[in-house]
Amino acid sequence: MIGRLNHVAIAVRDVDKAAAVYRDILGANVSAAIAQPDHGVTTVFVTLPNTKIELLEPLGEGSPIAKFLERNPDGGLHHLCYEVSDICAARDALRMAGMRVLGDGEPKTGAHGKPVLFLHPKDFAGTLVELEQV
Ligand code: CO
Repeated sequence: MIGRLNHVAIAVRDVDKAAAVYRDILGANVSAAIAQPDHGVTTVFVTLPNTKIELLEPLGEGSPIAKFLERNPDGGLHHLCYEVSDICAARDALRMAGMRVLGDGEPKTGAHGKPVLFLHPKDFAGTLVELEQV
């Protein structure tokens, strides 16, 4: 069902500080910070040869990562994103297998402009999983 690892998302309090570590110390290819008010985050994309790291900082009231940062004040691994070719077929198969899809189960447009869904961390070894249709 799943294909490539599309990205690893890390929630941080200060995205510029985190980006500087990846750029200046790790020597990675780091984008400018992009405010994504529709998603309640400011994002920096770190492009590695085989995948991406997304650094997420809360933006505005009710950011979806605000509670995570309350529990993890130093930041931390927020989710993994796997690619799928047909997101609705993947959702239906996961539900048949008893896995929980978050929200109303209808794919939303993610930070990359592609359809995404999130899966309950308790069903996936304690890790929030995002599926992205590519
Ligand atoms: Co993501």
